[in-house]
Amino acid sequence: MPDMDIEGQLGSRRAKRSSEKDKMDALVDAWSQSMIARKEKDLAKAERPQLIVLYQLCLSFSPSETNSFMSIAMAPSSLFAVGLVLALFSLSLSTTSADIVETSFHAKNLTVNRLCQKQVIVAVNGSLPGPTLRAKEGDTIIVHVFNESPYNLTIHWHGIFQRSTQWSDGPEYVTQCPIRPGGNYTYRFNLTGQVGTLWWHAHSQWLRATVYGAIIIRPREGQKYPFVKPYREDTILLGEWWNADPNDVEKSALATGTTPVDSDAYTINGWPGDTINSCASNKTYRLDVVPGQTYLLRIINAALNIQFFFKIANHNFTVVAVDAAYTNPFQTDVVVVGPGQTTDILLTTNQSPGLYYMAAHPYISAIGVSFNDNSTTAIIAYQNATQTTPILPVLPPFNDTPTAFTFSSNLTALVTSPFWSPVPQTVDENMFITVGLGLSACGSNQTCGGIFNQRMSASMNNRSFVLPPRVSLLEALYRNISGVYTTDFPDNPPLVFDYVNVNNSFNQSLMMTPRLTSVKKFKFNSTVQIVFQNTALVGIENHPMHLHGFNFYVLAQGFGNYDPANDTAKFNLVNPQERNTLGVPSGGWAVIRFRANNPGVWFIHCHLEVHLPWGLGTAFLVENGGTPESTLPPPPADFPQC
Ligand code: C2O
Repeated sequence: MPDMDIEGQLGSRRAKRSSEKDKMDALVDAWSQSMIARKEKDLAKAERPQLIVLYQLCLSFSPSETNSFMSIAMAPSSLFAVGLVLALFSLSLSTTSADIVETSFHAKNLTVNRLCQKQVIVAVNGSLPGPTLRAKEGDTIIVHVFNESPYNLTIHWHGIFQRSTQWSDGPEYVTQCPIRPGGNYTYRFNLTGQVGTLWWHAHSQWLRATVYGAIIIRPREGQKYPFVKPYREDTILLGEWWNADPNDVEKSALATGTTPVDSDAYTINGWPGDTINSCASNKTYRLDVVPGQTYLLRIINAALNIQFFFKIANHNFTVVAVDAAYTNPFQTDVVVVGPGQTTDILLTTNQSPGLYYMAAHPYISAIGVSFNDNSTTAIIAYQNATQTTPILPVLPPFNDTPTAFTFSSNLTALVTSPFWSPVPQTVDENMFITVGLGLSACGSNQTCGGIFNQRMSASMNNRSFVLPPRVSLLEALYRNISGVYTTDFPDNPPLVFDYVNVNNSFNQSLMMTPRLTSVKKFKFNSTVQIVFQNTALVGIENHPMHLHGFNFYVLAQGFGNYDPANDTAKFNLVNPQERNTLGVPSGGWAVIRFRANNPGVWFIHCHLEVHLPWGLGTAFLVENGGTPESTLPPPPADFPQC
């Protein structure tokens, strides 16, 4: 359908908006009712009644250069929140301690010193990384986002299920139109059914290079961690730094279809660390510890394009959760973490009192590509350490795929977790999806910098995903706007070939990808199985595939071409790890399964930021389920317009 039609539909939609303003109270009411319904459910599950309801204003700080105080906006929603609490009191539902955690994010320009020079970045509340959201399982989060930056902005709450709050998921043009400079939008969501570490990040252009922070979800009152109570805990945010505006880096690469320049450093909690350079302005993140204690470290990979190996000199540790889902304890001396993933480890300070570096450097699965081979470091400092130079760990070689595979394929779920639900044993929707690189046409009268003078591209089942420019997919679904997307995303690749054969890497008859906004539709509650198959087109590479709105089970992973005759026998249907982001092995495959029980439109994409504008993604459209609880609610009144 031509663009005029979309504009026409948008025009009439805008006309409808004023009348929709009138509906605001009704919407807020609906939301509050659904929250009350949720509380009632929680209540039914609660063990001991308590007569406390808190409306807690949570002030939290992240390890950052500026401990900026987070301002609390007393917006109308606060009144609403107070109202909700009163409602809960009057209904005597106040037996759980679920709180409302409300805060404001002000995103704006900030000048920082890194790598011996000044750089203007967009940062939230004046800090890099941004503020940490701390809450308990079951709490409700309200974040008023004020875009005081020069760029369009959205925030995604990576790994949050967004049940009944689909409009808060955040990816630009999938869920919502961006918050324009000067604009604001309030994200609301509930933290039910997950404990551990997640994170938030900008989901617009490359802004997430500096717009990111941790989400820490502790057990609700009366529940415990299924492991030894840590003495203290800390968050380790791995990041990536450019001596440039990351949006400019993206823009200049896309202008000619070439690969963007590598970052200049990797960071731990915003700092490259003192093994890179020794400028006075440089700092190294430091964690002071006492001997003989257990620390919970929450490792988050917030880098744009780099998977990391992470180690701590002379120490082993135990993985207890990934992507806010408990795992069986897994002993290791190295963590492998891809962009988007989190890993919670227990570290026991059982070494002689000293200074030990924690360090991370890239895991590079692609062959013959350029990359920045620096490490980033932080210091674990025992009390009363006498030495002055920390000990460095020896990280695995950059291309150590066996170590990466051992780590990521040996994790299993803790099925005694209160949040575990068994793997669906039957499959309604079977998909086989190739993931990898390719080329798209340069366009006449243009000069392109990709291979064969075309544009670099990436695809799923040979389709390069293009975001709609004027309305989000979710809004197009809700308002029945046609011509925005098609629902013909294929269940299989258009052509069967020897996917992982490197002799095909530059086969031009296989490399060209059409650019489409093609999504896949699922009936509510259908069970979906996907085989992801990496291709050798351009080159094999490990792609961290992230699904919004759901966790999935990882049934099996391997190398080569997936072979249903032999590989189905390898499925773990008993205690497979549950995650929201999975690195599909380089030159290999992975099988995931999930239940499509959340109506809406959910982005699924490679979390390497370089591959996102190249098209390595699609969206899953989950239909309504026919009950109020399984129906996509209307957008909130302040929903950003294009
Ligand atoms: Cu963490 Cu769509 O991303």
